[in-house]
Amino acid sequence: MQTDSAPRHLFVVMGGTGDLMSRKLLPAIWHLVQGGALAEPAVVLATGRRDSWTDDSYRAWGHQALEEAGLIQSDGPDWCDRCMYYHALGDGTEADYQALASRIEQIEREHGLPGNRVFYMALPSNAFVPTVQSLGKVGLNSGPGWTRIVAEKPFGHDHESAIELNRRIHEHFDESQTYRIDHYLGKETVQNLLTFRFANTIFESVWNRQHVGSVEIIVAESVGVEGRGEFYDQTGAFRDMVQNHLSQLLTLTAMEIPSSFEADAIRDEKVKVLRSVEPVNVKDIALGQYSEGLIDTEPVSGYLREPGVAPNSRTETFAAMQLNISNWRWHGVPFLLRTGKRMPQRTTQISVNFRCPVLSIFRQHESAQMHANSLIMTLQPNEGFDFRFEVKVPGGPLRLETQSLKFNYADAFERLPDAYETLLLDIITGDQTLFVRADEVEEAWRLYTPVLAELPTPHPYAAGTVGPSQANRLMVPRGLSCPL
Ligand code: BG6
Repeated sequence: MQTDSAPRHLFVVMGGTGDLMSRKLLPAIWHLVQGGALAEPAVVLATGRRDSWTDDSYRAWGHQALEEAGLIQSDGPDWCDRCMYYHALGDGTEADYQALASRIEQIEREHGLPGNRVFYMALPSNAFVPTVQSLGKVGLNSGPGWTRIVAEKPFGHDHESAIELNRRIHEHFDESQTYRIDHYLGKETVQNLLTFRFANTIFESVWNRQHVGSVEIIVAESVGVEGRGEFYDQTGAFRDMVQNHLSQLLTLTAMEIPSSFEADAIRDEKVKVLRSVEPVNVKDIALGQYSEGLIDTEPVSGYLREPGVAPNSRTETFAAMQLNISNWRWHGVPFLLRTGKRMPQRTTQISVNFRCPVLSIFRQHESAQMHANSLIMTLQPNEGFDFRFEVKVPGGPLRLETQSLKFNYADAFERLPDAYETLLLDIITGDQTLFVRADEVEEAWRLYTPVLAELPTPHPYAAGTVGPSQANRLMVPRGLSCPL
């Protein structure tokens, strides 16, 4: 993330009246303006289908969204009034897009902007290709300055559709203009994986099959489908979380050292990891679907009772699997991925479980049970690191106990920026490091597509539990005991 004041531009949000705009984009832009990362005026033009909306009603809507996010007071200074515009896109005909082009030019003239443009697709995935093509047809794929297009996931639903989607985008926008968002990459703790690995010789030197016995990547959520039942029922945990967020965490944990800290050098190494993963075996997958249960002592309904979900749905809300990476660094080290909704608590963690010492010199002492070392990186919430190691319990007989060295972000840093703040600024400054390249998204789909058609039936698990017991074989017990 760059911190110099970013180039002046017009930020166009296609589908700017939805949840993503009010909950994520608008607060992120507001923080960037307040922090000085975006020079004023940071001008936003939202498009939508609502003909009845005007600049004024949109500004009131934006104001309310920022107020609800606790960022402004109702009578506070109003950036929305100075810089937010709304344009009704009608039916999305070519003439409608011509009108959009004229509106863009008019706003740019009004604010003296140099013609740099971001087109952010805050749209359902089926509207994506038609929008990109319409922008291209009226010449909005290039302008007086730079033009960038931003795509939110889901990026395709299998290997073939991802290739097709990339092809259709590339008809109008080249790869250097295309920013595919996986918001996990914008999280500070996820970015820190590279710093942690490649700025600390102490860890990088043991980051391999000689020293590591297994790696676990867990993204647990306590929320359910949060009113998105219809979308989720077509998607499931595999497509919603594994193909993108968990795969990103996998590649950053397993990749080789890039030749530089440049976008393509890093993305090349991530793609190589995906190419080295052995074909996924359905026997190494366990799925689950939550039934009713308790979250924080509150009763919650089961997945099949969620609005928008088919009453006999077999969509998985939990997925656990083992992946094997066939390269010199990782051969023989299982990577265990696990994600689920309605878990007891929200936590995203990567645990690197080290091997036991080859031989225990304490083997004559039955009481001296050793446990393997582990490094637990908590990416959210309570961000930090926890390195677990063995110490001798003072006094006799000889006993070992696991203790830990901890680092918490909250103790060292004041505020972690939201992922969208980082990502939006990178789009505007033209840094593609934290965005998913076309070949990367295709490789991730190539890996999982063969199993999508033969996924096992999900096992039920009660909301508020850690998933179905059938998935237990795909996890490593905490504090693994070493042989005496
Ligand atoms: C989204 C998924 O991409 O990520 C959601 O569609 C999920 O289902 C969300 O809840 C999790 O993001 P975070 O940042 O809360 O971990």
